Amino acid sequence: MTLCRWMAVSMLVFGSMPVLAEDTGVPAEIEIDYELDVLPVLETNCTGCHNAAFPAAGISLASQEDVIANAELAYNAISTGRMPLGNPTFGESEGGMILSEWLAQQFEIPEPVEPTP
Ligand code: HEC
Repeated sequence: MTLCRWMAVSMLVFGSMPVLAEDTGVPAEIEIDYELDVLPVLETNCTGCHNAAFPAAGISLASQEDVIANAELAYNAISTGRMPLGNPTFGESEGGMILSEWLAQQFEIPEPVEPTP
């Protein structure tokens, strides 16, 4: 099912077709697994420079906690093409889209709750 999920992520990112949960009209949260989907992308593209021992710019992306703490910064760095250093189109790659979507899910402000009358 991995391929299906990645296709769903690309559709979400490109906005060509909103992914809707049946009946509710609420966009379905795409489940991206940190260990399976995110970690390999980080290890290939980020932690060579942003590791715990020598974190570039003082930013370690070595543990899930570190990544969550830097999620918004990392998301912006990827979407503006600043990171990974020297790879400005990374955000358009499959791995880049998966990482960006997961990062966004870590800092997105939740929908306001309807006040009860
Ligand atoms: C080749 C080494 C290298 C790689 C690979 C790399 N970075 Fe960086 N990163 C740096 C350096 C050096 C800086 C500080 C200088 C700068 O901002 O250009 C930095 C700065 C940053 C910053 C803070 C400054 C900013 O632009 O917001 C973030 C966030 C960041 N990197 C995230 C990432 C993420 C996420 C990845 C993987 C997708 C990544 N980096 C891959 C070397 C790297």
